[in-house]
Amino acid sequence: MIILGINAYHANASAAILVDGRLVAAVEEERLNRVKYAAGMPTLAIQYCLQAAGAKLTDVDHIAIPRNPWARLGTKLLYALRMPRFAVDRIRVLRRFTGIKEELAAAFHLDPKSIRAKFHRVEHHRAHLASAFFVSPHDRAAVLSADGLGDFASTMWGLGEGSRIRVTGAVAFPHSLGMFYTALTQYLGFWKFGDEYKVMGLAAYGSPAYLDEFHDIVRLRDPLGFRLGLSYFTHHLSGPQMTWRKANETPVLGRLFSPYLEHRLGAARAASQPLDDRHRNIAATMQVSLEKILLANLNALQKKTGAKMLCLAGGVAFNCVANGKILERTAFERVYVQPAAGDAGLSLGAAFFVHHQILRRPRSFIMDNAFWGPGFKAQEMKEVLAKRQSSAQFIVRELDEQALLQVTAEHLALGRVVGWFQGRTEWGPRALGNRSILADPRRSQMKEILNDRIKHRESFRPFAPSILEESSGEYFERTHPSSFMTFAFNVRQPKRAVIPAVTHVDGTARLQTVNRISHPLFWRLIRTFGDNTGVPVLLNTSFNDNEPIVCRPEEALDCFERTKMDVLVLGNFILEKQSLVPSGEDSPALMESKVR
Ligand SMILES: [Fe+2]
Repeated sequence: MIILGINAYHANASAAILVDGRLVAAVEEERLNRVKYAAGMPTLAIQYCLQAAGAKLTDVDHIAIPRNPWARLGTKLLYALRMPRFAVDRIRVLRRFTGIKEELAAAFHLDPKSIRAKFHRVEHHRAHLASAFFVSPHDRAAVLSADGLGDFASTMWGLGEGSRIRVTGAVAFPHSLGMFYTALTQYLGFWKFGDEYKVMGLAAYGSPAYLDEFHDIVRLRDPLGFRLGLSYFTHHLSGPQMTWRKANETPVLGRLFSPYLEHRLGAARAASQPLDDRHRNIAATMQVSLEKILLANLNALQKKTGAKMLCLAGGVAFNCVANGKILERTAFERVYVQPAAGDAGLSLGAAFFVHHQILRRPRSFIMDNAFWGPGFKAQEMKEVLAKRQSSAQFIVRELDEQALLQVTAEHLALGRVVGWFQGRTEWGPRALGNRSILADPRRSQMKEILNDRIKHRESFRPFAPSILEESSGEYFERTHPSSFMTFAFNVRQPKRAVIPAVTHVDGTARLQTVNRISHPLFWRLIRTFGDNTGVPVLLNTSFNDNEPIVCRPEEALDCFERTKMDVLVLGNFILEKQSLVPSGEDSPALMESKVR
């Protein structure tokens, strides 16, 4: 049985496909059409998923759409009466969704009648909850989803047991932790869609000096839930102004904070204005306020359910700093966050929702790795390389795995910046060792080198470490798995000077723990680097330069050629910039591999 999940006409458009209850493929449209956070109909993502499953659209049995226009209809009608523009907008959305079968048929040049799949509409947050719980290793877990807004709710919680999720509560529009975070992110001068994680990085530089003011901006509701001080916001007056329905455009979000916020906190920062202590302290207060509300809610949920396991989803679940504190400040012992916790994950969640909650099938799948996107054969890479040879500024060699790992580890230890392209592309926004740029975490200047030569990011943003799972306790105060880079933990005091390039200013790091079984090649690379240097840790950042993470070998090569990256490892091919390896200075491993 084939179930196709489609997140369409919403930011982070994506598709996921299940065959007999097991995930076969999942990918965001942005990786394929190269438009960051692309919305619209994810035609390329659907094509890829079908191809990976060896199926045609006409073979699909069920199509799951993570949006239910009828959910919370009463609240929607109430707002529609108050805001005619908002009503018009909703009707437009509804029309697109009711015509989704026809749009799909048109995109695939089919007669709509030939699509025999049954269509299912799954409420936004139910799809989020399903995306976490149904692929988690847990049979019983508390579940919570929190984001900006979806089907008129911002937060939903309940209990997952076996192949059922029971929703026990929700917070409806306009109260939203996601909107709160985004509004303050805009206030601090970060206006691009998806900039919230930058402010999370900035927060570590400040202190929470505005807690009194923030107490009015967002307030806890007993025993579960929260309220926004609506006078600080605009989205409840005008409806959230989002432009995100076209596949070839990055979504744009209208201004969410009101003049009253500026009245209380001072003038908003212009994007071009330098950051000062006031901005840093506001960022820190915002982060602390979010943590306070989230952790209090989670504590209440834990007590209500008695569960020791927690599955989190929604954009707020990307707040790795807050996630790191769940284990300290609640009775939850394990927290599972799948790699595409944000809206891309809706396609996955809707598909699993249909499989378990609607079709009542038992569970048979655990997501223990993030590699569900396109992969490429050695022959395809060879052909791409052959096309570039004439203009190439680099030397290409094909090595066996042992030599490849040894040479790469040596380059890294020498301070070189390495593009690492292996296997299938990651599902979700983090590079987790298949489309990564890697570097030596022991060099304190590596952050500046990467920013200067390749990434061009704000200087306050930290880089993350990938560490052998077995070594995480040696370097971190917690050993909880973080396979998908969704937790920040304290680096042990003595180790902070050992891995300065990946230790944030507050002594934490957003780590990826790398498992020997689920991610063997990357594990072996880190192990080789560890054997050579005594430090089984690599700096791991996404393989891109102000673009979606590279997906195809061509994009990896473009990024390699365009930037000052030193080395590119493409499958078993290693590409070294001509300037890099002057004859006579080769290391023993380099010499040996050249002989092969
Ligand atoms: Fe969402």
